[in-house]
Amino acid sequence: MSFDQHLDLHNPYPGIDLAASMAIDRAVAVLNEGGLVAVPTETVYGLAADADNRSAVLKTFEAKGRPTNHPLIVHVTGLDTASCWVKRLTEAAIDLADAFWPGPLTMVLPRSSRCRDFVTGGQDTVAVRAPAHPWIRDLLLRFEGSDGHALTAPSANSFGRISPTCAKHVADDLGVKPAGKVDMILDGGVCEVGLESTIVNLAGPRPEILRHGAITRAMLEDVLGCPVPDAGSDAPRVPGTLKSHYAPRTATEIVEGGTAGLERRIGELGHERLAVLAPDALELEAPNVVLAIDAPLEPAAFAHVLYMALHRLDRAGATRILIARPGTGPAWAAVNDRLGRAAAERKA
Ligand code: TXA
Ligand code: MG
Repeated sequence: MSFDQHLDLHNPYPGIDLAASMAIDRAVAVLNEGGLVAVPTETVYGLAADADNRSAVLKTFEAKGRPTNHPLIVHVTGLDTASCWVKRLTEAAIDLADAFWPGPLTMVLPRSSRCRDFVTGGQDTVAVRAPAHPWIRDLLLRFEGSDGHALTAPSANSFGRISPTCAKHVADDLGVKPAGKVDMILDGGVCEVGLESTIVNLAGPRPEILRHGAITRAMLEDVLGCPVPDAGSDAPRVPGTLKSHYAPRTATEIVEGGTAGLERRIGELGHERLAVLAPDALELEAPNVVLAIDAPLEPAAFAHVLYMALHRLDRAGATRILIARPGTGPAWAAVNDRLGRAAAERKA
């Protein structure tokens, strides 16, 4: 009898190859032991920990250098598991999940007793999301069991830095133990969306947007049949809304006025080394441009490359990053929100 006959090469994850499914197996084991795994999602890479395990969750704050009173998103496969973590699923939550889960939408709801202070930063609400990337979905399916286990996962970057949209970003920033801070990185390729999820607060008297993302205001309003305004200044705490969040280390400026505006600004900054993200940037002929990256013209395509581009622009040895304003209006809300933060004065 040959040994091969005993090897079960059946792939338990449809659409996922054997190497990936073995890596996902290892990730489940690491998480069950209270470790930290950087996981691919369709938005950005997350730093996953067992949401029931206090010491594991606290390690994510330590790895990121993030204050422990900042709440985390609980990642689930869908409404069944979400219902273990929230007090009650409202009609709005069910409708939005039906429309956008799995996908880049996070909903804030009153928390259940299972959801502890170390997850919510002491708040009585919890943020839940069912991510769509097939690897984290499979990981969650394997991890949740019959009693609704779930994963906390902030973006897998050091606090205040640009979110990672590929495994290399995580390796360069947090790194893998023993030299780095995470137990394992699950490399599921480049994130499709490229910006963090939309966050909608459903815990108040009316739905409000806490963070813009790929699910736009119009999409939310279409499903809910009511206006979904931005949250006011009394909104629940969202550190992603600190002005300087998502910031490159290099001073960053958004340039208005299209190609003419950009060329003028490059001329004014003749004494500086510039890294530029703009449409047709490769055609710029200024000697002080040390790196030029072509910007896509569509909002989703721009969002997909933005953090990738910021990571590269930030490493170009430039004294300043210039980004041509790509567009305005509702379709650009998430992109312009992140651009505003990337360019904000770093005081926080
Ligand atoms: O796309 C995403 O949402 C990614 C991927 C990994 O899923 N995650 C992510 O997590 O961006 P993080 O921790 O970097 O940002 C989550 C945001 C934070 O700004 C946090 O304040 C907010 O969600 N948040 C979490 N729980 C909340 C709550 N109960 N009330 C209000 N905001 C909350
Ligand atoms: Mg983040």
